[in-house]
Formats: sequence, C-alpha cells, structure tokens
Amino acid sequence: MELRRYSLREDEIPRQWYNILADINLNPPLGPDGNPINPDQLAPVFPMNLIEQEVSTERWIDIPEDVLTVLNLWRPSPLVRALNLEKALDTPARIYYKNESVSPPGSHKPNTAVPQAYYNKVFGIKRMTTETGAGQWGSALSFACAQYGLDCKIYMVRVSFDQKPYRKFMMAAWGGNCIPSPSRETRAGRAALEKDPDTPGSLGIAISEAIEEAVADETGRTRYSLGSVLNHVLLHQTIIGLEAKKQMALAGDYPDIIIGCAGGGSNFAGLSFPFVQDKINGRQIEIYPVEPTGCPTLTKAPFVYDHGDTARYTPLLPMHSLGHSFVPPAFHSGGLRYHGMAPTVSQLVDEGLFTPKSVKQSQVFEAGILLARTEGIIPAPETTHALATVIDEARKAKEEGKEKVILFNWSGHGLLDLTAYDAYLSGQIKDIILSEADIKECEKIYADFPKPRHLTHK
Ligand SMILES: Cc1ncc(COP(=O)(O)O)c(C=O)c1O
Repeated sequence: MELRRYSLREDEIPRQWYNILADINLNPPLGPDGNPINPDQLAPVFPMNLIEQEVSTERWIDIPEDVLTVLNLWRPSPLVRALNLEKALDTPARIYYKNESVSPPGSHKPNTAVPQAYYNKVFGIKRMTTETGAGQWGSALSFACAQYGLDCKIYMVRVSFDQKPYRKFMMAAWGGNCIPSPSRETRAGRAALEKDPDTPGSLGIAISEAIEEAVADETGRTRYSLGSVLNHVLLHQTIIGLEAKKQMALAGDYPDIIIGCAGGGSNFAGLSFPFVQDKINGRQIEIYPVEPTGCPTLTKAPFVYDHGDTARYTPLLPMHSLGHSFVPPAFHSGGLRYHGMAPTVSQLVDEGLFTPKSVKQSQVFEAGILLARTEGIIPAPETTHALATVIDEARKAKEEGKEKVILFNWSGHGLLDLTAYDAYLSGQIKDIILSEADIKECEKIYADFPKPRHLTHK
C-alpha cells in the first residue's frame, strides 16, 4: 500500500521561524519625505516587539512556548500525497500538499494571527483592528484574540461580506466584531463611499479603515494587525515550509516544483521560503506564485514603490503593485484581490528566483471541483489558483514522461465559500483579464514615487 499521509508528532513542531531577511537584500520602506522610515514611526500602528521582528535579520527566531501551545491545537499540519489526483490525471508526477485547511478557522492564517495576538498581549494591548478579504484572516484573528483575551474589530471588504455572511457569524462566535468596508466609521471609509457609493470595496480601503481606527485610540491600547505582506507575517508562516521539509524527508522525496496561490504572498512564502535557501545554494527548484488574471500583480504590474493602502497611511513599500487606489474587479477569490504584494516575494520575483503565473476564473473552479471529487476537501477559491497550476504541471510531466515531484500549499477550505461554487456550477463565472491598457492606467497612480533598486541576494 502506498502511503498517503506524512505526519509529525505534536512535539516535532518547529521551535524557530526562518527569517529570509538573513539571506536576501530588500529596498527599505520609505516615509512621506522619501527617506527610509525608522522603526519608531511604526509604533502607533504595531507593538514594538513585532516591529523588532519586522526589521530583524537574524536567520532563526524562537517561537515562544505560549504560541506553540496554541499552534499545537492543530499543528503540525499533515503533508498528504494526492494519490487520487495523480490517478485521475494519469501522471507520473508525485504530488504532495500541505493541508492548512485543518486549522480552526480553516486556513493558514492563524499561523500568524496567533503570534501577533500573543505579542500584542505581552506588550499590554487590549484591542486589535484588522481588515479581511475572504474572511479567513478576520476569522483567524478573532480566534487568536479569543485565545489571549483581546477584543477584535474587523473591516470586511463589502463584496466578500455580502457573498459569505457565515464568516461574520464565525468571527462573532470567537468574539470578533465584523462590519462591511467601506464603512461610515472612518474618514477613509467615508471618502471611498463618496467617490463610489456602490463600490465593492477593496483590501486597500479596508486596511486604511483598520489603521485609522487603531491610531485614533487615545489610550494607546489598540493596535492594527495585517494578515499578509509584511516581513513578520511571512516569517510566522514559514512554519509551513519547515514542517513540509521534514515531512518530505519522511516521504523520501524533495520537490522539483513548489506552488502556492499569492494574494499578499503569505501562504506561498510560508511554504516556499525555507526552500529558497536551498535554491540559492544551487538546488534546482521551480517556485511558482499563482494569482488571478483579474488582479495580476506579479505577472503584469511593475516592481515599484507604492503604498499598501488606499488612504496612503502606510509607508511606501518596494513591491509589484497595480496602484494603491486600484479597486480590483469583484471576482470570488476575495483573498487575492490585493493591489500589491509582499516586498520579500516581489524582491525574489524581481531577482528571478520565483516565476509568477496567472490563471483564469473558469480554470480555477474546474480545478477546485476536480480536487474536491478526488482528494475530498472543497478548496477555498484562493487555493484553487494553486490547484490549476498543479494540474497544468502534472499534465506537462505526463507529456514529457517525467517523474516530477510537485509540492503545493492547500491554503484553506471553501466550506464558507459555497456561493462561489454555486455560481460556477450554474455557469455564472466569467473570466476577467486585465488588459495592457488597464495596467498602463494603473501605472499613473505611482508614477511620481521613487523607484526601488534591483538587488540580488546575499
Ligand atoms: C485560503 C486563503 N488562501 C490564500 C489567501 C491569500 O493570502 P496570502 O497570499 O497572504 O496567503 C487567502 C487570503 O485571504 C486565503 O483566505
């Protein structure tokens, strides 16, 4: 019998995160005056212990014991050989996935929500604010805040709020307060509504609202939390790839190809960063971040300096960007509707170590259905972007007669995304492709900002 699942014992959970900033160079974030910001400027937004992680270049960072005990509620997550999918595709490829859908909220997001809530608690913070697209991140932070006794307020992008009402109930069950964004509660929200009262909302707008509320608290006991993009967020997610490395060794395999969907870059980076070190040291691995053709940040947008949010509250970040005021079309993968990308992921794309891909909506739902019917789990619409690329690569391996080893991240389940599946199964999903003219229009948004340098790894 061929083995399907490779599991680690609870006490085999990694005890340190891998910090890629020890191995690569990054352009610094810039303040409003065009100069690199200093960490103190971020203090009204994040607690200092997380800011220290954001700028650290230590290769290994200890995971606190009080974080491990919460992560152990579901971690280490299983590494699964997708034997049924391999059979359905009749491919010589061996396909493995890291199943991050097994967490309480249903995705990889609590891997960082838990340490973020912990560090806020230790710093004396009482209340956290955040944005959410798909609802997975808002759920994850609500869950994490419940573990450490913190209040949590979530601005959920309007189109997703309307598409999946059960996410709000899930957040409420953990004590989180979720409202649609843009809202009338903040200046940024009111400005967005004045511009377009029927706007579907965007992650950029929701981030502005959550930051504005955090810094407005005069008691100093509220901080903002971001679910992707930033260095410390991606650092926390490396637990996925560190576990996967041990589990691939148990399976006696090593990946030729690593695939993850990319919205802000966190699940993709979490799986791939621990393997980047090997690639830098000469190992042959293809690493593919996958995004929707309707929000093609890495595949079509240039590497520039831009703000992470619409109201321009964040510093200028070096990243691929469609422009901070760009409102992505209202397709079903809310977690991939972000105008920017993590600076670390952008840097590695610019350097040629990652090869980004984009896929159409019809293709991703077809892949999601095939995976649901073979491997059993109904994938989150975001995850299906990775799946479409996995299927392409497995078919290519068959055509070429090569035994490729493919590793991908099953970033979440889609049990609260069933309206998207209903739309697909009843023929209502349309492909959305941003044209070259649309991209040229976006480029005007950051035309006057400084440009990042092209750097190489250490
Ligand atoms: C299940 C799932 N996968 C992927 C993403 C994309 O985010 P990231 O690129 O940070 O992993 C999201 C975001 O909400 C998500 O919910």
